[in-house]
Amino acid sequence: MARFHTNKRHVATNPDFIIAVDSAAYGILMTCKAFISKGDEAIVLNPVDFLFKYSVESCQGTAVPLSVPLAPDGMINIEALENAITAKTKLICLCNPLNPTGKVFTKFELEQIGNLAIKHNLIILSDEIWSDIVFGPHAYTSIASVSDAIKQQTIIVTGYSKSYGLAGLRVGSVIAPNEKLYQQVLLASDHHSTTHGCNVLAQVAVKSALDDCEDWLHSFVNHLKNMRDICVDDLNKIVGITCHSPQGCYLVFPDITDTLLLEKAKVAVVPGLGKWFGDRAAGHIRLSFATSEEILKEGLDRITKVLNER
Ligand SMILES: Cc1ncc(COP(=O)(O)O)c(C=O)c1O
Repeated sequence: MARFHTNKRHVATNPDFIIAVDSAAYGILMTCKAFISKGDEAIVLNPVDFLFKYSVESCQGTAVPLSVPLAPDGMINIEALENAITAKTKLICLCNPLNPTGKVFTKFELEQIGNLAIKHNLIILSDEIWSDIVFGPHAYTSIASVSDAIKQQTIIVTGYSKSYGLAGLRVGSVIAPNEKLYQQVLLASDHHSTTHGCNVLAQVAVKSALDDCEDWLHSFVNHLKNMRDICVDDLNKIVGITCHSPQGCYLVFPDITDTLLLEKAKVAVVPGLGKWFGDRAAGHIRLSFATSEEILKEGLDRITKVLNER
């Protein structure tokens, strides 16, 4: 794990400061527990996966939404980010690549976010669970690799559900940059009480995935890139649907405002409800294209047929 982050993410990582957790979801919650108390605020991207708002609010904090462009190549508005910071702000929750829009943050954006965190002494919760699923020419940068000063403000949360399909084993990692933050997160995690912990089998599976499955991951990402192109092309052919091409994540997030609901198509999608992604998700659905071309085509055909019947 430490070797992976040091070599592949260019974040020099001390194995003593990694906590194996029973899901990235819990990694987010325990990081919030470590830094958010009643009345504190955390900046949460909008749209983004519901876990951030859920975790901040579980700690009786306020999730302050920061609008991000729905187009993956839209840049984050740094002025808006700085304006959202108040005396109560403790945390910036970053999700890179961004579920659900598929944005991969540029090094320039990360540097600006990181420098704001330093300026206002904020912790960055960097959720990197999608960091292996990035489509060339886009490349992944961990915010903790941008400078040592930024790294010292950053807690990385990651998991193995996306790149290696290990969701069922319930496993993730939380990486602190130094002893002080490590102790703070460990204390908040409640691991000492034995009410939480990551099973050994899952940890062995992760070691094997990271050590032995690089070739498999490479082919998986190539396959996903083809599925992405099919999915985006086919969706954009449907009248009323607008779909951007994601730079990372195996998700598309088409705007279906001008269509009817998809109940008749019998394809499972996630609705763009505020409770799942924030209010900027309205009018969208989230579709996963992490499947075979055959199944993907079948799903897209059903959607097309139902929508063309209107
Ligand atoms: C951004 C993000 N973080 C965390 C998670 C949760 O991962 P895990 O299965 O390890 O709890 C997800 C799952 O969808 C996710 O998209």
